[in-house]
Amino acid sequence: MNSRRHFLKHVSAAALVAGAGPPILTWAFAQEQSLAVPGENGMIVRSYRFVDLESPVEYFNTWLTPVPHFFVRNHMHEPSELNTPDWRLSIGGEVEKPLIVSLAELSKLETHSVVNTLECAGNGRSLHRPQVPGVQWGKGAVGTARFSGPRLRDVLQRAEVKSTGKHVMFRGLDEVPGKVPPFIRSIPIEKALDADTLIATHMNGSPLTRHHGSPARALVPGWIGAASCKWITEIKVLDKEFAGNFMSPAYRFPNQPGKPGDAVNPEDTHPVTALGVKSVISAPSDGARLKSGRVAVHGAAWAGEADIAKVEISTDGGTTWNPATLSHDQAHYAWRLWTYDWKPARSGDHTIMSRATDSQSRTQPSTAVWNPSGYLYNAIDQVNIHVA
Ligand code: MTE
Repeated sequence: MNSRRHFLKHVSAAALVAGAGPPILTWAFAQEQSLAVPGENGMIVRSYRFVDLESPVEYFNTWLTPVPHFFVRNHMHEPSELNTPDWRLSIGGEVEKPLIVSLAELSKLETHSVVNTLECAGNGRSLHRPQVPGVQWGKGAVGTARFSGPRLRDVLQRAEVKSTGKHVMFRGLDEVPGKVPPFIRSIPIEKALDADTLIATHMNGSPLTRHHGSPARALVPGWIGAASCKWITEIKVLDKEFAGNFMSPAYRFPNQPGKPGDAVNPEDTHPVTALGVKSVISAPSDGARLKSGRVAVHGAAWAGEADIAKVEISTDGGTTWNPATLSHDQAHYAWRLWTYDWKPARSGDHTIMSRATDSQSRTQPSTAVWNPSGYLYNAIDQVNIHVA
C-alpha cells in the first residue's frame, strides 16, 4: 500500500487541506483547538490533543529508523518554538558547583554516540487482555536511532556531585495543561553516570527535531522511553528518587504478577526501568494475502540493556521453532533486524510467530504479564496470513 493511502487509512477522521506544497492535515476537536501535522509520513495518529504518533511495523525494515518515521510520545503540549541561543540548562541540587550551560557550551564537550532502541513503556498496551486505559498503542511505539551529544556524567562531574547525590532528576519544557503535573522524572545516579547516558542534541546525525526534544534531551539507553526526558531545561541531583506523578503512581510495575484484571497494591510495585526481551514481525503484514511460493519473513528484536541471542520462528502454532537469521548491524542497546525464509507446505490460512531470547536467557513469554497500566507488553508476536 502506498504511504498516502496508508496514512489516510489510519486517520480517517482527519480532514485533508489541499493546497500548494505538501498536504497539511488538520483536525478540529473539542476545546476548538486544532493541530497540523505537515507531510504524510504514514504515521499512525494515536492522539492529536498531545502529539502521539506510532510507526507502522512495516517501517521496521531499516536498522536506523528515519526521524520522520520515529514514533512520538508526548504527555502534554510540546514547548512553543524555542530560540536555541536563549536556551539554558541548569544543573543543581546535591552538587558543589551549580552550573548553567548554553547549547554552545554543551557542544564544546566531547560528543558520544549511542545507537539505541527507544521504546515506550506502553508499547503494545492495546494487546493486553483485559484491556487497560491509556494511549492504545499497537506494536509501533518503538524505533532505533543514533543519538549523539555530551555524556551526562561529564556535565555532572563539572558540577561536582556530592556524596549525598543518589538520583538525577530531569525537567522538560513541556507546556503543562491546567492542573496536569509536569513531566519530571529521576534516574538512579549509577545510570546517570554510565558512559552511555547522554544529553543528546542530535538524532541520526541531525539536530533533534521539536517532536524529539530539541534542543536537548536525556538519553537513557536500554530503559523505557519515559526515562529519556525531552526538551530538558533543568537537571537536579537529589538525595532520593523524585516523588511526583510520573514516578508514582505512573511507570510502576507489580512486584508479583497478579490475576489479569485485579487491582494492584501501589505499595507492592517498583519503577519500570530497563526494557524486556521482545520481537516484532514487520513483514508480511497481519492479514496479508500472498501468492503461493516462498515467504520472506522479516522483523526486529531488542532486549533493553541485554543483547539478542536468537530469534526463532514457528509456523505450526508454537510446536516447532526454527532460527531466524540475525542481520549484521548491531550495537549494545540497539535492535537486531532478522529474516526467515519460509516455504509454506500448503495453501490456506497460516499463523507466523516470532520469539526472541536474550543474553540474560530471557525468552518472550506466550502471554505478557498483565498490569493495570499495560506496561512492557512483550508476548511472542504473531501475524495471520493467507497463502493462495
Ligand atoms: N519528555 C518530556 N519532557 N515530555 C514527555 O511527554 N515523553 C516520554 C519521553 N520523554 C515525554 C518525554 C515518553 S513516555 C517517551 S516513550 C519518550 O519521550 C518518547 O520519545 P520520542 O517522542 O522522541 O519518541
